[in-house]
Amino acid sequence: MPVISVPQAFNEDDLYVDLRAIFGHSLYLKCEGFNFAGSIKLKAAAEMVEAAERDGVLTPGSILIESSSGNLGVALSMIAASKGYGFLCVTDSRCNLSTRRLMEALGSDVQVITQPDPFGGLLKARIDYVRAMCAGDSRFVWLNQYSNEGNWRSHFRTTAPAIARDFPTLDVLFVGAGTTGTLMGCARFFRQWRRRVRVIAVDSVGSVTFGGPPSRRMIPGLGSGVRPPLLDESCVDEVVLVEEADTIRACHRLARRGFLFGGSTGTVVSGATAWLAEHGDPDLTAVTIAPDLGERYLDTVYQTNWLEDLYGKDVLQSVRAGDRSLDRVSRAA
Ligand SMILES: Cc1ncc(COP(=O)(O)O)c(C=O)c1O
Repeated sequence: MPVISVPQAFNEDDLYVDLRAIFGHSLYLKCEGFNFAGSIKLKAAAEMVEAAERDGVLTPGSILIESSSGNLGVALSMIAASKGYGFLCVTDSRCNLSTRRLMEALGSDVQVITQPDPFGGLLKARIDYVRAMCAGDSRFVWLNQYSNEGNWRSHFRTTAPAIARDFPTLDVLFVGAGTTGTLMGCARFFRQWRRRVRVIAVDSVGSVTFGGPPSRRMIPGLGSGVRPPLLDESCVDEVVLVEEADTIRACHRLARRGFLFGGSTGTVVSGATAWLAEHGDPDLTAVTIAPDLGERYLDTVYQTNWLEDLYGKDVLQSVRAGDRSLDRVSRAA
């Protein structure tokens, strides 16, 4: 029975969903949303804060400041509240309203950037704002998740060893790429593991991370308008790019079976199942990672008007057709 006295002390690290019955491929989905911050970003946040405290950068009276699309912001809000620091989260208009409210409920201030930089998009505009704030007040401490080594090291120390322990015959691991902290931590861990594992990055079409042209992306978490400084492509075996409409369909297929996950889970599941359909040998042991759960996305990914305005009226047609064939199967049975 876990008994805790600070919220960051609890994280479920050993829960997987077997997706074979839903997607027809042998693929295990590691669930990272079962902690008090509701996402995988708890690990990066805890590691970066502890390192800053050890280095004497973060001291009583400090105010944390960070650019985040939401989940790191929630994790830092929780840790800041627990440890007595202030926190200012700089986000943008793609951040879900409920995520913003969560941060405010935890006592943080939230600044929403709405004007993209003409060359670096909303992300560059967010970072410019953080820099300006730090220049104006020495109490601000910017951990900078985009270049902080603690970001990838947290996954090297926790996420990847947990997967290795749970899947000793792992062949292929699919990891979504945002800051690339999760990707780099897992890729570096499995490069030095006893067994050869193919590490495949999954990114959104429209992200520039792996050199593609920028275009509109509406789902927070994965993808970047600026090349992530943490990324070392030599550690990654392959890259799969996913259209947002496919992300949406994967999320809804999971939801129709009772699993409500966040948007980026739809991206990694869609990318992984497409790769397995093309290359997969049915005996491969394949794992992917669900960074968070779906409740933060009820007004976006799971809201019909939002979906149809952005991706067209037919975006869920194949999911609904799947429901009808399920219906036929259950009636026949
Ligand atoms: C929902 C979600 N998915 C994926 C990611 C990407 O993780 P990373 O920044 O480690 O690449 C994030 C990061 O914030 C996220 O919030």
